[in-house]
Amino acid sequence: MSMAGSAMPSALPATPASALAAPPARPKVTTAPAALVSAPVAPFPSPAAPARLTLAPIPVSATLAANETLARKRRAGETVLPLAFGEAGLPAHPLLIKALAEASAGNTYGPVAGLPELREAAAGYWTRRGTPTGPASVVCGPGSKALLFGLLMAIGADVAVPQPSWVSYAAQASMLGVHAHFVPVPPGEGGVCDAEGLAATVTAAHQAGRRIGAVVLTLPDNPTGRLARPASVHALCQVAAEHDLIIIADEIYRDLVHDPDQAFASPVLFAPERTVVTTALSKSLALGGWRIGVARLPDSGIGLALRDRLVGIGSEIWSAPSMPIQHAAALAFDEPAELTERVARSRALHAEVAAAVADRFAVAGLLVPAPQAAFYLYPDFEPWREHLRTTRGIGNGADLATHLLHIYGMGVLPASVFGEEPAALRTRVATAMLYGDTDEQRERALRSDDPVTLPWIAAALDRIGDVLDDLAP
Ligand SMILES: Cc1ncc(COP(=O)(O)O)c(C=O)c1O
Repeated sequence: MSMAGSAMPSALPATPASALAAPPARPKVTTAPAALVSAPVAPFPSPAAPARLTLAPIPVSATLAANETLARKRRAGETVLPLAFGEAGLPAHPLLIKALAEASAGNTYGPVAGLPELREAAAGYWTRRGTPTGPASVVCGPGSKALLFGLLMAIGADVAVPQPSWVSYAAQASMLGVHAHFVPVPPGEGGVCDAEGLAATVTAAHQAGRRIGAVVLTLPDNPTGRLARPASVHALCQVAAEHDLIIIADEIYRDLVHDPDQAFASPVLFAPERTVVTTALSKSLALGGWRIGVARLPDSGIGLALRDRLVGIGSEIWSAPSMPIQHAAALAFDEPAELTERVARSRALHAEVAAAVADRFAVAGLLVPAPQAAFYLYPDFEPWREHLRTTRGIGNGADLATHLLHIYGMGVLPASVFGEEPAALRTRVATAMLYGDTDEQRERALRSDDPVTLPWIAAALDRIGDVLDDLAP
């Protein structure tokens, strides 16, 4: 039995031959370079299944783990710089709170794919962004993370992901018993694999007996805060078509591109027949805890098969998204003026603070690509490598993140959790937890024309500068 086949629940029909031209992945063989491939946590069943039940560890997501350490430090009265967690750091809009309260009596499960009004609203959201969409193409789930997991499971083959990329793609692939193949991004970009690199990786994997069935793009990107150029997206789509790959476009940060005039090209424009788009309200409207996400499936043979499989998986894992949340989410995806204004203000705040933090790193002498979207930056401590090694005993990115956390209470994530080499000294810095400790402070940050001058944000910026001064050569 193939590894991919055995990773799938038997109730699901095999992926149609038309969807994936090459045969499914075969067991045991992988000769792709170890550093670029994240291997399964536990293939099901192991080729030589031991008689005793063994449970391979599945670690808590690096982001959530760092957040918990920071919370412990804070409770112990230590000053912390919470730059590890990718939460939007803002209150829910009152309009949405009201809509949720009004829907709270809704206690039935509802359709697996989501309420018709939510699917209609999400279809309208995409249609307004230049990709005409009907409600039948939309599947809703409890967060886009769950939908991404369902999609990877539905595809049932290896996946190519950008290097670096968001922690959960590779982790989810591992849990499904398939491999994530990391493909470097073009220099200066983020969220999209280099097209030639992708082609080479698919071919090498095939020669090693593995089938890459999908490629993930993050537009714009977490961890780098960069938005890939349309030409890079286009080139990648061509390679995906040549190799019959499904494209998964994670566009959860799409509405948070700092410069509204910057060109945004979704792969759905270039390869509509094979592109699945996911998004959610977790970032643009800071509703991460409400757990709602939506996927747009292609209106093609592959798309329809994928949709049915995704709905089948959803029916067995989450049954349906939360009913009251769906009502509020339908309002959000309808984009009334109050909410559009809220997203615009959030975007401006993210842009101001991310730029100010990036400036502190640049002034200290570190390499930091200008953040273009959301609340992330990806500074590189490489210029200080020798100094950090000799004075602090820091040899790799994990050492650096641990040192920053324990000596300075500064929580950041090392590049290695995003699939980069352990030696890399890049770190992901998430800036949205600096907006305040209370909803009142966060609201003031949102309303301010000059948020970086608010005392608590200015103090955090000064502290970042002090930490970097202390660490500098
Ligand atoms: C790139 C990316 N995709 C997806 C998600 C998942 O978000 P949610 O499950 O809240 O929709 C996140 C959250 O951090 C993210 O950064």
